[in-house]
Amino acid sequence: MAGLSGVPVIILKEGSKRETGKDAQRRNIAAAKAISDSVRTTLGPKGMDKMLIDGMGDATVTNDGATILREIDVDNPVAKMIVEVAKAQDDEIGDGTTTAVIVAGELLKNAEALIDQNVHPTVIVSGYKQASAKAQQILLDMAVDVKGDREMLQKIAQTAMTGKGIELFMKKLSQIAVDAASAVANSPIVDLEESVKIVKITGGSIEDSEINYGLVVEKERLNPMMPKKVEDARIMLLEGTLEIKKLSTDTKITITEAQELVSFKQGEEKVLEDQVEAISRAGANVVFCQKGIGQVASHFLAKKGIMAARRVKDEDLKMLALATGAKIVGDVMAATAKDLGVAKIVEERKVGTDKQMIFVEGCTNAKAVSIILHGASEVFLDEMERALEDALYVALDVIRSGKIVPGGGAPEIKVAEKIREFASTLSGREQLAVVAFADAMEVVPVALAENAGFDPVNVLMALRSKHQEGSNYGLNMNTGQPSDMLALGVVEPLKVKTQAVKSATEAATMILRVDDVIAAKQEELKPKPGQSPHDYTRPPY
Ligand SMILES: Nc1ncnc2c1ncn2[C@@H]1O[C@H](COP(=O)(O)OP(=O)(O)O)[C@@H](O)[C@H]1O
Ligand SMILES: [Mg+2]
Repeated sequence: MAGLSGVPVIILKEGSKRETGKDAQRRNIAAAKAISDSVRTTLGPKGMDKMLIDGMGDATVTNDGATILREIDVDNPVAKMIVEVAKAQDDEIGDGTTTAVIVAGELLKNAEALIDQNVHPTVIVSGYKQASAKAQQILLDMAVDVKGDREMLQKIAQTAMTGKGIELFMKKLSQIAVDAASAVANSPIVDLEESVKIVKITGGSIEDSEINYGLVVEKERLNPMMPKKVEDARIMLLEGTLEIKKLSTDTKITITEAQELVSFKQGEEKVLEDQVEAISRAGANVVFCQKGIGQVASHFLAKKGIMAARRVKDEDLKMLALATGAKIVGDVMAATAKDLGVAKIVEERKVGTDKQMIFVEGCTNAKAVSIILHGASEVFLDEMERALEDALYVALDVIRSGKIVPGGGAPEIKVAEKIREFASTLSGREQLAVVAFADAMEVVPVALAENAGFDPVNVLMALRSKHQEGSNYGLNMNTGQPSDMLALGVVEPLKVKTQAVKSATEAATMILRVDDVIAAKQEELKPKPGQSPHDYTRPPY
């Protein structure tokens, strides 16, 4: 071993880049801050929108933090970690993404100041973790129980939609969101995407938007001879096909006489006729089929007065099952009345100028529903859909958990105050880290004030002092003064706040623990021999 002394040991591939210690931390923090700054101006009801233009030149105009971060193409790995925070928040509760990201940014900014004062990142990480755990309890303590309070649910839905450019229609949309969330709240399905289908229709006014206790299927009926409208529908959901199996190319059937060919074809037709007979015997008057329905079966179905649609998406079949109570049938010959679902009406209707869709509606115990959104343009409809999704998630959470907190920065002020009290029980550098955490929480009311054009320092001071009187004081967006947010109806699910603090702390501490960045040499994009320089594609990464 002695022979090695003095000889440099190279363990990295040539061309790799390496940064260590404070340099690495500083660069990582800068990247995270850049991302968080990019969404900071969108926070709150007075937040600005961003216009995102994709590679094809299509524009999205949005105020939704999660959408902005999803659409922008970040290359920096640390920035990507922050984007992940937004994603985690969005998956968990569907709202509070901007909050989570800007709190993460602020935690890192404050950490940087401590690192400059030679506080070791491990100490900061430990302080942040303790403070974050405390914050969970503080938030829980200030939460209010509102189980079964429909008016409150609507306010929660409205707070989630505020600032998304749809204020005029908020009442209508929040009603729809609460109705839809209430319908599916007892569904065994946890994921809203699998139980609420949002159908966007260009044309008409937002006021025409409505909830449909059933499902809208973007399909036409198979055959004009089938009924266009079926009342008291008994619906069969069929897996597989209703058509003559295509013979594979190497199958040989030797038919020697003309009569045999006829009877072979008749045999196949007979199978289909029997299958349609089985559908009818079970009592179905509407069939949604997962795969193809051939001409022969279509003819028999029409003859029996059964309405049918084919190649219905799997998601739609599952939602139809939840909405109508039908079971998905595998073997049509074994189907019985018990497998059928019910709906008051199934009807094909013209939607917009040229499309036809099948509306299944009036399902009495629908565990899946559709929301039909009308709007003037696609860009507007998309933003409306995002706002509605936020509202759906928060309403569903509060129906299930019953717990809310006031909004407008109130919980952040309270958490900051209590965490500062907690810090005073600690000693040394850890105390500094815990105070830095408390300060970071206040970025929420500060950003809300900035975005509304109020003086952030004044707002912060006013809120802090008002909190001596009560925990519900947040920023009144009209006056710039503290107001009781519960009285104003600015309320949010407890989970939006607890999750935001959790995700932000996790991301910040993860980034702080890194003190060594080793980047492999980037592959150069060179055409292969024999390839024109325009032919190569980027390597996947
Ligand atoms: N009418 C209102 N008055 C004061 N604050 C509000 C109001 N509506 C929403 N907020 C606050 O705005 C913040 C949420 O802003 P938003 O842009 O939806 O970001 P996020 O992606 O974090 O949900 C929350 O702190 C919420 O309490
Ligand atoms: Mg929101």
